[in-house]
Amino acid sequence: MANKNKTLGEFIIENQEEFKYSSGELSRLINSIRLAAKVVNHEVNKAGLVDILGAVGDQNIQGEDQQKLDVYANEAFIKTLTNREIVCGIASEEEDDFITIKGRNEKNDNKYVVLIDPLDGSSNIDVNVSVGTIFSIYRRITPSGSPVTIDDFLQPGNRQVAAGYIVYGTSTMIVYTTGHGVNGFTLNPAIGTYYLSHPNMKFPKDGHIYSVNEGNYVHFPQGVKDYIKYCQKEEGDRPYTARYIGSMVSDFHRNLIKGGIYIYPSTSKNPDGKLRLLYECNPMALLTEQAGGKASDGFNRILDIEPTKLHQRVPFFCGSVNMMEKAEEFMKNA
Ligand code: AHG
Ligand code: MN
Ligand code: MN
Ligand code: MN
Repeated sequence: MANKNKTLGEFIIENQEEFKYSSGELSRLINSIRLAAKVVNHEVNKAGLVDILGAVGDQNIQGEDQQKLDVYANEAFIKTLTNREIVCGIASEEEDDFITIKGRNEKNDNKYVVLIDPLDGSSNIDVNVSVGTIFSIYRRITPSGSPVTIDDFLQPGNRQVAAGYIVYGTSTMIVYTTGHGVNGFTLNPAIGTYYLSHPNMKFPKDGHIYSVNEGNYVHFPQGVKDYIKYCQKEEGDRPYTARYIGSMVSDFHRNLIKGGIYIYPSTSKNPDGKLRLLYECNPMALLTEQAGGKASDGFNRILDIEPTKLHQRVPFFCGSVNMMEKAEEFMKNA
């Protein structure tokens, strides 16, 4: 039974020695993310009441229409992370290029880079459906004392020191890993405190839920089409249930708790898929593996991909091990 009396703050302090570099800085970084998440949560929750719904009229570098909450969340996270003496650089879905942070005395001696999808599921904002935030954290690899470079951001996912997401759902939760399993904390909005509600989260090995935007079926690769038909066949414990919210964070969160597979494949229109490797797929892949699941591009492990571009896209498959292995078998044999 979960210890719902333990707060995120207490958990961070107790587990500090488990962090790869236990200077306390990573703990403080997670702390600043939880603070920004509270600020964004507050805004998301009153979205229908204040003038925060709808588009701003600009497009981001992805060619997507930016929503007001995309911009608000982006600014809230950047502001919170910049105010600390920990982060030397930030990359975001909503920023064309990475941001350099000089740190204390302009010295460039901060250690961590953060990559974020400030608001995941933008298309669901105006219709009151769960959205999220995704974050990925690395140690910089270029020498301290000089400004960060693109190389600090283009590290493979297997070098992440922490990753997580916030889901603004029926309740607001932060779920994260520092490489020692996955833990989930639920916000009590009345007092602004997160409690450990989901300790040691694990993907069930088998699942009965498949999550994919089937509207794009005609554009899917043959292996994905074959796997979808397999999910729908009446045989054994099938047909499986289809569930697709359209906010990856929420789809992932449900599958993690109930068991399932999430697929955003390549399509004939978008051969690299839609989701972004650095701030969507890598953090979700680390969480997946830390929760005993599997994450790939349909063939190869996501965490081993050597990134070449900040906004690189990649086909993404993740979830319960046995479902993933079946899907990969269909991909291989197609
Ligand atoms: P974002 O809102 O951060 O741009 O991400 C959108 C992503 C992801 O959240 C979701 O799973 C997917 O796009 C939905 O795409 P489709 O509408 O093409 O299914
Ligand atoms: Mn977007
Ligand atoms: Mn997203
Ligand atoms: Mn986004």
